[in-house]
Amino acid sequence: MKLEDMIIVPSKDKFRFLSLVSNDDFEFNQFGLDSVMLILKGTEQLGEETQFIKHILREYLAEGQFEYPRVQTEQFSNLAVEVIQKCNLKCKHCYLDDKKANERISLSTFKSLIDQAYDLGASQVSITGGEPFVDKSIFEKVQYARSKDMRVTINTNGVLIDETKAKRLKELRVALLTLTLNGDKQSHEYLYGKETYEPTLNAIKVLKENGLDVNLNFIAYKDNLSQYIPFKSEMKTQFGISKVDAFPVSFDGSARRNLDVMLSPQEKLEHNLPDGCNQSYERGLTCGAGRTMLFVKSNGNVTPCSQLADTNVGNIYEYTLQELINKMEIKR
Ligand SMILES: C[S@@+](CC[C@H](N)C(=O)[O-])C[C@H]1O[C@@H](n2cnc3c(N)ncnc32)[C@H](O)[C@@H]1O
Ligand code: SF4
Repeated sequence: MKLEDMIIVPSKDKFRFLSLVSNDDFEFNQFGLDSVMLILKGTEQLGEETQFIKHILREYLAEGQFEYPRVQTEQFSNLAVEVIQKCNLKCKHCYLDDKKANERISLSTFKSLIDQAYDLGASQVSITGGEPFVDKSIFEKVQYARSKDMRVTINTNGVLIDETKAKRLKELRVALLTLTLNGDKQSHEYLYGKETYEPTLNAIKVLKENGLDVNLNFIAYKDNLSQYIPFKSEMKTQFGISKVDAFPVSFDGSARRNLDVMLSPQEKLEHNLPDGCNQSYERGLTCGAGRTMLFVKSNGNVTPCSQLADTNVGNIYEYTLQELINKMEIKR
């Protein structure tokens, strides 16, 4: 891996070295970063931390490729785009109810969003849906973002991913695919529907075989809660997947009609599951939402983050991303 494929993301007292083309992510304190820079400049220091950094550099830099990585602005870094609302499935818990076939971000609009995000200093685009692989121009969208050296991640149910698509995603050097798998066949299909388990499992297999990084979402409800821990280690053993995040169902969309998929606050507490987001646009945001990230919905409405999907700050067909960020900054 070349250093030019990495980006430095500063936060309060830390720096992350984040890969634009894989899920590699290293964190340094100020001393660590200074040491990296000294090593790159050829004035090495000794010390345990330096040795560790040298090890990383040796592992991850192609010989002679000592170029400085870009430094991410502390402001806007991540644009999340719901490219399409349409989906090939009808999950019991999906927060997107009444998926409208015509709600989609066109290729030209997507390109304009990427151009604006890039000019504002963003280095990452997170693609979601609906189901992104239902979108006919998904590969052109990914290709455009990658042509600007943006780090691309995709959330998908995996059902439409085959060997050919996996190879194309690898060629485009997509950094990460996050698929959803909710334990065994019965538990997964209870939410995702019949004949979805094997295709998703096969997608994980072909993506990993083609050298792509895969994370999993595990949607937790009463009947699969006890599977989470063994499922996590099974995914690690079988596919080398190290990140399987469990999420409870939020009371949105189809879940409002399928109350059996909801966990009680007590159950969430007992199993250490996140209990929604406590941020509010109206009361003023205290996290990075709306500053370091923006979420563009398939109808063009913009929210500070995908967790605050009901908040509408404005629409991309009316405002530029800079204007929308300015609007949100006023709310802090
Ligand atoms: C909207 S989907 C889009 C990507 C893709 N279609 C998929 O299912 O993975 C993104 C993630 O949100 C999860 N999700 C959908 N509705 C939810 C809800 N009401 N509560 C919690 N997670 C939900 C999905 O299970 C999936 O892991
Ligand atoms: S959770 Fe994903 S796969 Fe299921 S209906 Fe919603 S968008 Fe489609």
